[in-house]
Amino acid sequence: MQFFAPCPRGLECVLAEELIKIGAKSIKSANGGVHFKGSWQTCYQANLESRIASRILWQIAQKPYRDEQDIYNTAYAFAWHEWFLPELTIRVNLAAIKCPLRSLDFVTLKIKDAVCDKFRKTTGKRPSISTIQPDIRIHGFLDAQEFTLYLDTSGDALFKRGNRKTAGDAPLRENLAAGILRLTGWQPETPLLDPMCGSGTFLLEAAQIALNIPPGSQRHFAFEKFKQFDQTLWNKLKNKVLSGQLSVSLQSIYGSDLYGYALTDARTNLEAAGLLDAVHLKQANILEISAPEPQGVLVTNPPYGVRIGDTESLIELYPKLGDVLKNKFSGWHAYIFTTDPALPKTIRLKASKRTPLFNGALECRLLEYKLIAGSMRKTRNDTSTK
Ligand SMILES: C[S@@+](CC[C@H](N)C(=O)[O-])C[C@H]1O[C@@H](n2cnc3c(N)ncnc32)[C@H](O)[C@@H]1O
Repeated sequence: MQFFAPCPRGLECVLAEELIKIGAKSIKSANGGVHFKGSWQTCYQANLESRIASRILWQIAQKPYRDEQDIYNTAYAFAWHEWFLPELTIRVNLAAIKCPLRSLDFVTLKIKDAVCDKFRKTTGKRPSISTIQPDIRIHGFLDAQEFTLYLDTSGDALFKRGNRKTAGDAPLRENLAAGILRLTGWQPETPLLDPMCGSGTFLLEAAQIALNIPPGSQRHFAFEKFKQFDQTLWNKLKNKVLSGQLSVSLQSIYGSDLYGYALTDARTNLEAAGLLDAVHLKQANILEISAPEPQGVLVTNPPYGVRIGDTESLIELYPKLGDVLKNKFSGWHAYIFTTDPALPKTIRLKASKRTPLFNGALECRLLEYKLIAGSMRKTRNDTSTK
């Protein structure tokens, strides 16, 4: 079977590594996701264990098209009733790049009609539509020549781990946070600090990685509603990964934030995931903290101009942040995830790496600073930050 796993743009290579680990075959990275081949077992495991994929889509068709009728015919050709019951609700999503057709809404309607018409013909009943909480999601993708049709095996997006209770001001998506952790190269034996932790997304993901907790263990998936769902195989896979889970104990994972309400959010989320006892949390200003251990990985997502914070105060904060990193974190590797172009210019440290990433539609950078005492300050003429 052929699958496509979409992910935040910039994380394709780390997602591909994850999929290789769970036994996926014929891996091919694309812009915004990874194509792979595998069995139902691969699909169940990818849903249960991938920390970086947004969904696992089963590709059921890929055909050239000229007009809406071709798309209808492709969708009508399938025995949909062999995959799910007409009593379930459906939703059709459509995305397109360089598609010459005039209305994507009309194409969406044609796909929905094809599925419902085929159901009515084969069973006398048709599924109803639910745009908010559908049982089954069907995804179509159109490029200039080809129409690809997918059945979504995940249901709710995989970044919904089923344990976030409160979102905070500008939370990161869980799979973006997990992907950033992977890009930093952080390993659980190394101390980790998020000194602007907000609702605690990095801390939650890091604690789950450190304790081997599969990201999908607290939620359900759309494939559980498919007719060919193999409950025995699913139980076996789930029990196997759950048996590798470590019991919760305090890790070298540290989080702090300036505001009490942000820490309340982080605490609520960690508690809901049963991970409050795994993480050190305290209220502190990043400008006044010291490194909790001699070496480690600092990863954070400071406030930025677009959604929260005010540009002028940020322009004051960023150089001070640079001073703190330089003066108090020598021996650490710091990773700053930001969408704010002012940050790399005003922090006055020289990044050893800049990785472009996308947070939804926002273009961001993951900036790496390897902090070695005395060697980090940019000279006045150094213009190497972009
Ligand atoms: C973009 S949010 C971080 C969101 C977080 N990654 C999450 O997923 O919820 C930035 C955070 O920085 C915190 N912050 C702002 N100024 C700070 C300071 N001087 N010291 C520590 N935290 C600060 C804010 O309270 C906010 O929670």
